[in-house]
Amino acid sequence: MSSKIRLGILGGGDDSLIGVLHRVASAMFDQFQLIGGVFNPIWDENIGFAKKIGIPTNRVYIDFDTLIEEELKLPENERMQVVTILTPNFLHFSMAKKLLENGFHVICEKPMTTSYEEAKILENILQKSNTIFAVTYTYTGYPMIRQMREMIANGVIGKVQKIDAQYYQGWINPIIHDKEKRASTWRLDPDKSGISCCIGDIGTHAFDMIEYLSGLKVNSVLADLNYLYSDNKMDIDGTVLIHCDDYVKGVIRTSQIATGEENNFTIQIYGEKAGLKWGQENPNKLYLLEDGKPLSVLKPGHTYNSELSLDGTKLPPGHPEGIFDSMGNIYKGIAKAIKKEPYNSGEFPTIVDGVRGMNFIEKVVESHQKGNVWIKLDQ
Ligand SMILES: NC(=O)c1ccc[n+]([C@@H]2O[C@H](COP(=O)([O-])OP(=O)(O)OC[C@H]3O[C@@H](n4cnc5c(N)ncnc54)[C@H](O)[C@@H]3O)[C@@H](O)[C@H]2O)c1
Repeated sequence: MSSKIRLGILGGGDDSLIGVLHRVASAMFDQFQLIGGVFNPIWDENIGFAKKIGIPTNRVYIDFDTLIEEELKLPENERMQVVTILTPNFLHFSMAKKLLENGFHVICEKPMTTSYEEAKILENILQKSNTIFAVTYTYTGYPMIRQMREMIANGVIGKVQKIDAQYYQGWINPIIHDKEKRASTWRLDPDKSGISCCIGDIGTHAFDMIEYLSGLKVNSVLADLNYLYSDNKMDIDGTVLIHCDDYVKGVIRTSQIATGEENNFTIQIYGEKAGLKWGQENPNKLYLLEDGKPLSVLKPGHTYNSELSLDGTKLPPGHPEGIFDSMGNIYKGIAKAIKKEPYNSGEFPTIVDGVRGMNFIEKVVESHQKGNVWIKLDQ
């Protein structure tokens, strides 16, 4: 029998955006074997997809409850060990809760749930279980992001004094300007998506990245969101001012109506001594800015990088790595945790990050609704 970790997937079918990223990432370091799941709620599409990707169909189930029921009948050494949740947001909570209660490890897409309350319930359940819970803030797996985190922790830029994160996309334009389409996409439906679209979908990435890189906690937020049409219930653009400890201030600028933008996620953190800049569309370059010195460009795979960064590089310098590799690195860290091997806490985001993300979303929306006022996050 294979010694790989037995993986199930919920969602991520042929019609999905993110499924392929998780399948490739989980296979990347030869640690996981996809053995089944529920890829789509429509049976023909579900089973058809399993056949298309060439996995045995005996553990492709008609729905999530059947998956749990049937998997629990199997001996523990055959049962799925970890299940990845890639469904629309409103299904994350009920699936994750039942998985945890039945002893499965969980890998969950962000936003982790549709409310902060649900997120805290999952955190409580996890505390009583002996399982791993990862939340896939994809971009934290990039080698140069890991390098940036280590450089900041090691004092290379000195005390942090300014943070600027931008996440601009333009994909929602054709949907938001069409009355029928904006009423029918799940991302703009609060029942399926939660209370926020733009902040929930991409603002959470920026928020998590700020805390991941700086080691600081965001204490309070002041938000201004845009819904663009009176019949649209969900933000599709938003600017959030943030306050951290020790006079550190910053801004998170997000948009899904930044016309022509693709996945333009950038982050700049400036300290007393230097600044560091990184952009998702050019992820193999980390820029170090210092007064009176030429700009330095750091790249993956070189020995000047930290152990954490180098652990996420598979080939010698000059072989570009991208988003598949970034998610692959996250899966690699999760595999270490499941196998009870030592790992660095920077290797994958956990339920703590998922809960923080949900707190952020709710406080941002509250700030906007109360007339753009400062709101404290729970610490
Ligand atoms: N980490 C990232 O950068 C990133 C990027 C994109 C999406 N996401 C997140 O991933 C999740 C999925 O997003 P997406 O863009 O792939 O959505 P999508 O709508 O493209 O795909 C959703 C998939 O879930 C399936 N599904 C729906 N209901 C189901 C059910 N009851 N049981 C099993 N499968 C079901 C659909 O058939 C489809 O295959 C969301 O939570 C989203 O926020 C994260």
